This record gives sequence, structure tokens and C-alpha cells, in this order.
Amino acid sequence: MSTPIGSDVARVDGRLKVTGAARYTADHPVDRAAAAHVVVSAIARGRVRAMHVDEARRQPGVIAVYTPLAPLPIHAVPGFGENYAPLQDREVRFRGQIIGLVVAETAEQARDAAAQVTVEYEEAPARTSLSAGLPGLPSPGMSPDGPSPDPTLLAPGVDTIDDALRASAVVVETTVEQEAQSHVAMEPHGITAVWQGDDLTVYSGSQAPQMYAMLLATRIGIPSDRVRVVSPFVGGGFGSRVPVWSEAALAAVAARELARPVRLALTREQSIVLSGHRPMMTQRVRLGADRDGTLNAVSHESAAELPAVGGWPEIPATETTGVLYRTRNLAIDQRLVTMDTPPTWAMRAPNEAPGAFALETAMDELAVALDMDPLELRLRNYTTTVPSSGQAWTSKRLDECYRIGAERFGWEDRDPVPGSRVDGDWLIGVGMASAVYPAHAEPWPVRMQLRDSGTVVVSASTPDIGTGTYTVASIVASDALGVPIERVTAELGDSALPASAPAAGSRAAGALAPAIQSTSRVLIAALLDLAVRTEGSPFRGLDPSALTYREGRVEAGADSASFAELLGMARLPAVEATTPVAEPSAAQLAAHGFGAHFCEVRVNRFTGEPRVSRFTSAFDVGRVLSARTARSQFVGAVVFGIGGALLEANPVEESGRFAAGNLGDYLVAVNADVPPIDVTWLDYSDTAFSATGARGLGELGTVGSAAAVGNAVFNATGIRVRDLPITLDKLI
Ligand code: MOS
Repeated sequence: MSTPIGSDVARVDGRLKVTGAARYTADHPVDRAAAAHVVVSAIARGRVRAMHVDEARRQPGVIAVYTPLAPLPIHAVPGFGENYAPLQDREVRFRGQIIGLVVAETAEQARDAAAQVTVEYEEAPARTSLSAGLPGLPSPGMSPDGPSPDPTLLAPGVDTIDDALRASAVVVETTVEQEAQSHVAMEPHGITAVWQGDDLTVYSGSQAPQMYAMLLATRIGIPSDRVRVVSPFVGGGFGSRVPVWSEAALAAVAARELARPVRLALTREQSIVLSGHRPMMTQRVRLGADRDGTLNAVSHESAAELPAVGGWPEIPATETTGVLYRTRNLAIDQRLVTMDTPPTWAMRAPNEAPGAFALETAMDELAVALDMDPLELRLRNYTTTVPSSGQAWTSKRLDECYRIGAERFGWEDRDPVPGSRVDGDWLIGVGMASAVYPAHAEPWPVRMQLRDSGTVVVSASTPDIGTGTYTVASIVASDALGVPIERVTAELGDSALPASAPAAGSRAAGALAPAIQSTSRVLIAALLDLAVRTEGSPFRGLDPSALTYREGRVEAGADSASFAELLGMARLPAVEATTPVAEPSAAQLAAHGFGAHFCEVRVNRFTGEPRVSRFTSAFDVGRVLSARTARSQFVGAVVFGIGGALLEANPVEESGRFAAGNLGDYLVAVNADVPPIDVTWLDYSDTAFSATGARGLGELGTVGSAAAVGNAVFNATGIRVRDLPITLDKLI
């Protein structure tokens, strides 16, 4: 009757979504809401000399116009997301920065009026291109604050990584480049801000409602317990909905000033500019190996954009190159380049996806140089401890992933000679790569209730950002309490609920599941206690240890009562428990998810058009909680990798403007770009990781999938494309 862990069931929130009943940021009905629209800068760097707003103020429906000369009080939150506060000075730090806010009766009126604002600037030179200097060399513009403690491992008697490389029998060097990439969550960013006295309620899609409340409170200068963030449905995050961006703070303060709710929805282009992007970066990987493929030296250097206004410090090598292969010598150098670009932010497998593209491309090049099967090269350098730290893993079965993936894909049929497989106009090639992504075992609480209606309610601030958290939480609770899933309700995405895991870093499911299981045990104990204390209960006066709980019922001998019946007898609406103790965390062990990707591409001999024709991935994530949504996550992650390999790029032009401001110009992989993706997983319990044994899995499949595509393109054509995306012009 209950739904066991690992079941393949439809999303419990699916119906709400497909019928339009699921409410997103701008859908929440709010009385008397005014609409706001931001005015943004048209230069990349400089100062606002003057702003002309009289015409805008005269437009129909306009309520207020705020500018640096007529500001709203906002604070910066240095070091998180962005470090500037909008409208507080006349500085322009990037193109598309907010320099004004228009509030009107309707969204159309606000947008029309905003278009009437004219601005005079004093323009200054802007740093809009990543230093061409190779990473690792002293380069002007490198931030002195770059991330430092990069793991370096040198064998006894070896002084530098360059010495180790020089002493290697075979050396490859590859430099890969990528432009900025944009999250383009389907739901544009926005906020609806509603004040009741000193209390602020915010409706906004967020990956971390609790943190959103805290950050927003800091930005507007009120105590964080005055802010409630409601985020039951989120139209995609991919990292961009972890911080609180400027427009949210402005809308919240405007609502307070105007004493009415304010709703603000960014346009697609504003969303792309103002809500973070994956930094542009250059990486150089050098690998040195013995003739038999044993790695002697691994050097990974990177230089990534770090905007002056702040953002995500991209360090692509630490979690991939630092952990994936055994090597005698390892050096990682990750630098940040200060630029006058919009804020960057973590984008799905933020460090790991670019890092793995560089490393796994270089590994493929090494396999070619050694005339060795790239899969064999990976097995030759397989490691059972983290090379950079010596730690063991909670569990690692990547070798099984390689074997199972290769078998399903038919890897042994591959022809190592590039360009040797032809089907009519199409060259066919295959490539593979590894996936690795950290898993987090932090304890986060949940609250659970058994209600007199016979339902089970699981409550946590964790939102479902489309990853399936409602379904996962419902399955785990159904399994733990033996109650049909239809009688379980997950209540998620609200900062007023117990502060649980953020939907970031692929941690939500792996953190919620053990919390739900342990809370269920406490809940059952509380129910048994109630059963022996309640007047009229058939168990009254018994020792709780004489009772058993089974499938929503308390039993002893011939007596049996459901929890709803017992609550009815006790005249209580519910019995409740909150996660009592922290799960023991595997502090001494490293924890990662692993996977192996195998890709087949077809490249048109005449046009160069690359098409992915087959894709198989096998994953090791410990236990899978929800087969349907896990599969969706794996497939979606591979789709992300295909997009990253073949389509996605948002170059910053010399003017500081993003080349793409909409989904017509910013290309993501769509159905026509994606063949059926074959994914499988090992499904065992990683009990050293958590009591449930389930590691997170959302971002894992994005790691390495782009490299598998690029490696397949090389096998098809003999052309190694090192600057993403791999477009047809680079293949003819
Ligand atoms: Mo993520 S890039 O932790 O949403």
C-alpha cells in the first residue's frame, strides 16, 4: 500500500503544474499590487551624469520613479551574489545595471514609462574581455584575492609540476575556452512584495527561501525574522535563484515606501543580465604519462571572469581534477580576472562541468597520443582514495559504471581511427568521459505530522525547483510510515517552515530523506505514547513497548486503531515531530557521485553539422529514492551537457552587452537536438554516507557530458574543437 523507496511514480505535483494551478512568482493573487519595471544602464562602465524622468512621471498610471538622484534605501551584501547596492550612487559597473525603478498601476504602464527615461553618462573604459594571457603565468588583471589553497601533490624529489611533466614519457597540453553561459530558467526572475505592518511577505522563486529571507532582510535593513519567503513552485533555478538580486530589494523597499504591494517581473533580457551567468573562462590542462598510460603529472590551470560587482569565484579543477584520477604529481592553479561585466553566479555543476570538460578532453587527447582506448586509460588511473587529500570515499563504484555503461552502449564496437565510420553524408564517432560531483551529508531538519484526517504532512523550507522534491519527500514518508502516497502531503518552499536544506549543490533529496526517516521514527513513538495515554483508546495503560505500529495503525493483540482514529479519540488535530538529532555525518570520508558517459555523434561531411545520435550514462549515486524524477534529473543533466557542448554561449561584446538577450539567440538544447538518452544507475545503499544511503544526483550528469560529445566529435572527424560551443563552422 505504501510506496517503497526507489519506486517509479508520477510526480505528485504534476497535475498542479500541467493544469496551471501551481503558482509561480507572479501568479500569487495579491490585492492592490502595483507593478514595477527596472531601468538599466546602456554603458558598461562610468557614471550617470543626469537622468531625465519628467516624461516618465507624466505617463498614465505612474506612481513613482526612483533613480540614483531619488533613491530607495538599499544595502549591499558584500561577497554574496553581488556587492553593490542599486541606486545608492551614480556609478555604472556593468552594462544592464539597474539605475532606475518605475512603479505604476500595471506592468505595461511601468514598462512604457521606463522606456521614457533618458540618461546622460560619463563613460569610462570597461574590462570586457578575459585576459588573453595563459593561466598560470603572471598576468595583469589577475585578482590578488583569487582562491588559493589549490591542492598540489609532488612526488619526493620533484620540485615543480613542470619538472614532472618534462620527465613524463608522453605529454599532452590542451587549452579550452568558453564564453559566458546563461541559466535562462524558464520562469524569468521576479518578486511580489507585500507588507503587513513591519512584516514582509515575499513571493519569489527561490532555491533557498530561508537564506533569501536573511539576505533580503540584510539588504533592506530589517530583522530577518520579519521576512517570510514563499516559494512553492520554482520555474527553474540552475543556481541563479540562490542569491537575492538587486531588483528584489528594490521592489521590497518600494512596497514599503508606497504602502502597497509591488510586483516586479524582469524581462527575459534583464533576467539574463541581472541574475548571474556562468563565468567565461580559459583552462589549460597538461597531462604527463608513462607509456602504459599511468599518469605521472596532472596540471590544471584556469582563469575565470570575476566581475567587479561580485559573483561566483569559478574554480573548475578542485572537485574534478583534484579527485578523479590517481597521479604521482598534481598541480592546480585557479585564477580570477576582474572584469566590468554583470554578476556571475553558479550555474549547474558550476565548477565541475567546465573543469571536467577540460580534464576529460585532455584525457581523450592523451588516449590518442598513447594509442590507447580512452576507457582503458581511465581504468589504468582509477583511484580509490582522493588523490589530493588521501581520503577514502563513503562509496565509489565508478568502475562498475564504466563497465555497465560501455556494455549498454556497445563501446567495444568503436573504431579508434577518426573519420573511419561513414553513413552516407554522415561521419559517425563515439566518445566517453567520466562524471564526478560532490555529495553533501549535512543534517537538516524536517517537521512531520500525522493528522486526524488520516494524512501525513512533511514540512520543510526546501523548495522543489523542478527536481522532484515533492515526489521524493512523499515517497520517503510513505515508505517510512507505511501510508499510501496519496495520503502524504509535502509542504515545501516556505521560509516559515523548518529551516531545511537549500535546493542547491544537489543536496536536497540526500538531506531530506534521512531526516524524514528519523523523524518518522520519532513520530511513531509519539503516536504510541498517545495511544497508551488517551482516554477511550484500546491501548490505554499499556506499555508503549507492547504496541506495534504498522501501515498507519497501532496494534496490540487483537486490538487495532488507525492514527486518525487515535487522534479522534484524543481530540487532537495532529501529532507532530521535528527531526530530533543530527544524522552522523561521514566527516572523515569524501563523498561524491560518479558516472560514465558514452556518446555517439553524427557529423555532416559537407556542412559540418554535429548531431548527437546516441547517449548512454551509468551513475553511482548510492540509493535512488524516486526512479522517475531521478531519471529526469539524469536525462536533464545530459541535455544540459549537450547544450553546453554544441549550443550554449553568451559572449560579452566589447560594449559590455551580452550578445544574446532572449531564447531565440541564446540556444539551449531542445527536443530536436536530443536523442532518447539511455540512463541507468547502480542502486545500492551508501550507508557510510547516510542512514538512507542516497547521495544527491541533480548536477552529476552535467559533469563530463559535454566532453563525451566533444570526444565523439573528434572520433568522427579528427577535429579537436577546444573552444565551446562546437559549432558547424569549426568542423569544416
Ligand atoms: Mo546549483 S549551481 O547549486 O543550483
